[in-house]
Amino acid sequence: MSSLAPLDLSPFFETHPILETERLLLRPITVDDAEEVFAYASDPIVSQYMIFSTHQTIEDSLAWLRNVPGEFARKERMNFGIVRKSDKKFLGASSFHHISQQHHNLEIGYVLNRAFWGQGYMTEAVREMIRFAFEEMRMHRVAARCQIANGASAKVMERCGMSREATFCEDEVIHGEYVSNHLYAIVNER
Ligand SMILES: CC(C)(COP(=O)(O)OP(=O)(O)OC[C@H]1O[C@@H](n2cnc3c(N)ncnc32)[C@H](O)[C@@H]1OP(=O)(O)O)[C@@H](O)C(=O)NCCC(=O)NCCS
Repeated sequence: MSSLAPLDLSPFFETHPILETERLLLRPITVDDAEEVFAYASDPIVSQYMIFSTHQTIEDSLAWLRNVPGEFARKERMNFGIVRKSDKKFLGASSFHHISQQHHNLEIGYVLNRAFWGQGYMTEAVREMIRFAFEEMRMHRVAARCQIANGASAKVMERCGMSREATFCEDEVIHGEYVSNHLYAIVNER
């Protein structure tokens, strides 16, 4: 069989992966995390570059979290809660999505509660997500997108070894406005 046959990702969708770094645990996110999700998703500074509307009540967070198991069951998306190991504090969330078994690639997304910005947490989390995608899932390419105004997110991608491949002009409507996005990616050179 060709080595470029579709990947068999079923083991990763039977038991949700748990990723670990020096300071962080990335484990499945659940409805039990609703209060912590609401804490970041209701902050308009956090949501300004995100596709979701700023959460108004905890029901908005619960509605999203209730969708998470279905997306996982359909092999569409894995959503992680990012927890600090030292005190079990919930810092934010990240995801593998646009997962292609056929083309051996996926995209990642991420968000942190503002209280935890600027301490290198997301760089640490994304480095491990890329390692996991390449070494365990046998992915060939990992991509991510950010709005062109989102300098912190672009910096995370660059610090994780991703390269800017393209810029899409006004390709999304976010919070009622057209916005432009950078596409970053890294290819596994093994
Ligand atoms: C993007 C985000 C996840 C970064 O998380 P973080 O843990 O603070 O990131 P890190 O500390 O690992 O790295 C951030 C880097 O960006 C830099 N940075 C911060 N703001 C910046 C800006 N406006 N322009 C350029 N660089 C910036 C930081 O200085 C840091 O680099 P340094 O360590 O070399 O100084 C966080 O800001 C966030 O949750 N933002 C809101 C949600 C979001 O935008 N998600 C991404 C959608 S694509």
